[in-house]
Amino acid sequence: MRVPVDWPKLVIVTGAGAGIGQATAEAFAASGATVVCADLDLPAAEKTVDVLRANGGEGFAYALDVADASAWQTFGERVLAEHGVADVLVNNAGVGLAGSFLEHSHQDWQRIVDVNVLGAGHGCRVIGAQQRNRNKQDPSARGHLVNVASASAFSPHKQLAAYAATKAAVLMLSESLRAETSAYGIGVSAVCPAFIATGTHEETAAKAGGGHGPELVAKRILKAVRRNKPVVPVAGAAWFAYVLAHLAPFMMRRAAAVDGEAVLARIKKLTGWLPGKDGRKRPENV
Ligand SMILES: NC(=O)c1ccc[n+]([C@@H]2O[C@H](COP(=O)([O-])OP(=O)(O)OC[C@H]3O[C@@H](n4cnc5c(N)ncnc54)[C@H](O)[C@@H]3O)[C@@H](O)[C@H]2O)c1
Repeated sequence: MRVPVDWPKLVIVTGAGAGIGQATAEAFAASGATVVCADLDLPAAEKTVDVLRANGGEGFAYALDVADASAWQTFGERVLAEHGVADVLVNNAGVGLAGSFLEHSHQDWQRIVDVNVLGAGHGCRVIGAQQRNRNKQDPSARGHLVNVASASAFSPHKQLAAYAATKAAVLMLSESLRAETSAYGIGVSAVCPAFIATGTHEETAAKAGGGHGPELVAKRILKAVRRNKPVVPVAGAAWFAYVLAHLAPFMMRRAAAVDGEAVLARIKKLTGWLPGKDGRKRPENV
């Protein structure tokens, strides 16, 4: 299906107050869309809207805890009444959790599942249903749901059991939902970055070989939406893990038991020798 140049017109980004969410809101606004910036941290979402407007774009800030099902319902109704049906929803808000799974508290485990899995699911249900209803009335309309998963969705690791489990669930939610919603003109993409230098992951990304900025993920999200891509690994390390997980899962299982620092060093070495987009080796790793 051909996508009009001025589509999408209205985009919702969760976790838009920082990192990948902020960069994604900026990229959609720069492409001409009005962006609804939702975040647990309202002042952070408002700052993102200030940036969008300073750059000539348009956006609106809303407070939302994605883990709260009834808050999603109210938020969805407000956005519908104030702006209309969102063409695109980017379920980006997420939290990390590292360390021994056996040492996690019940609350830690509950929260990461609530935010990363249930949060993305609530968003898909509420906004996906609005898109379906609109598209039934207007078969030329289309919608798109983006779930920001992670390379951890297909890279088991002993220090990331809880996080990886939530991201694997998000990936499978996306792949299964896509099969349901295609009948209503709604695409679904799972975006799977690795080592992106955002506030919370700057150190890890740096250790992994420089790390890409959140702008790269934003760019890939826009492309995934326009081209209706199902699964989008972002950055060399994510592609490397994605291919290995499918071709040689036993190697991923072995890597899962290795200490994090050693895995990062290995990935850095291997991805550093993969050619960049221009065909040359990346200078920081050569
Ligand atoms: N940075 C990476 O290396 C990386 C890699 C793979 C996947 N991801 C995923 O990308 C997404 C964004 O990560 P980031 O690095 O930009 O994070 P970040 O911590 O820089 O920003 C997250 C934003 O989400 C908001 N947020 C947190 N919990 C929320 C909730 N319950 N409801 C609404 N908003 C909430 C925070 O206030 C913050 O503004 C996450 O889902 C993360 O798991 C990140």
